[in-house]
Amino acid sequence: MFQIEVNNVHKSFKNVKAVQGISLAIPAGQFTALLGPNGAGKTTTVEMMEGLKKPDQGEILLQGMNWQKHEKDLRKIIGLSLQETRFSEKLSIRETLRLFASFFDLEDVRVNEVIALTGLESKSKAMVGTLSGGQRQRLALATAILNRPQILFLDEPTTGLDPHSRLDLWNILKTLKDQGETTLILTTHYMEEAESLCDYIIIIDEGKTLKEGRLADLLDENSRNLDELFINLTGKTLNAKNEIL
Ligand SMILES: Nc1ncnc2c1ncn2[C@@H]1O[C@H](COP(=O)(O)OP(=O)(O)O)[C@@H](O)[C@H]1O
Ligand SMILES: [Mg+2]
Repeated sequence: MFQIEVNNVHKSFKNVKAVQGISLAIPAGQFTALLGPNGAGKTTTVEMMEGLKKPDQGEILLQGMNWQKHEKDLRKIIGLSLQETRFSEKLSIRETLRLFASFFDLEDVRVNEVIALTGLESKSKAMVGTLSGGQRQRLALATAILNRPQILFLDEPTTGLDPHSRLDLWNILKTLKDQGETTLILTTHYMEEAESLCDYIIIIDEGKTLKEGRLADLLDENSRNLDELFINLTGKTLNAKNEIL
């Protein structure tokens, strides 16, 4: 059975066709990227998978269950971090994680584990209001994985981070991947992020899937990397930071 199945999902906001037919099927433990420029429909797509938005058309199954019938069960198996997660500025990292742990009835041991995994030990007493962007994103990831979710959604986890913080986060995600217990869907507009972390890549633009597959299967002599593939698919170019325009 697939962990996630999405069949021909559509979603419009008034006259904006945000998502126009996304399909995917993901086995357990795989990391998948939804890769595309701003406005491509990435957030809308993950929010439908997270049960936060309802598709107009199409089907979404997580471990064979859907949000209409199995919301309670699904909440237990998924973890999510939104494009902008807000925390109380006046709580410390440890207090924030303890608060989240209490929602799930988790012991302090688990709080300590995720603090270690996300490299936040030396900052655990720091107030959220004093954290850097990279530390905040690591805290967002820590809260998302606290409950040991089988399926994890991360929306643009490294957008706006400096290169060093981005690498830190990638390393944490690689550790999660090596542990093999988490199926991850992440959205990104960084080619390198999709390339370095993900097994399966879905390139979307203007609400449509342009191409999907394993990295090696997507590339050929005309498209030697994702940058070239995207340019060949869309005629669009990349800026100096390798972001899609
Ligand atoms: N709540 C909304 N109301 C109207 N339009 C929206 C809404 N959410 C997203 N859109 C539009 O849908 C398109 C896809 O948006 P989004 O899914 O946020 O893309 P991405 O995450 O790839 O940047 C964009 O044109 C965006 O302006
Ligand atoms: Mg988005």
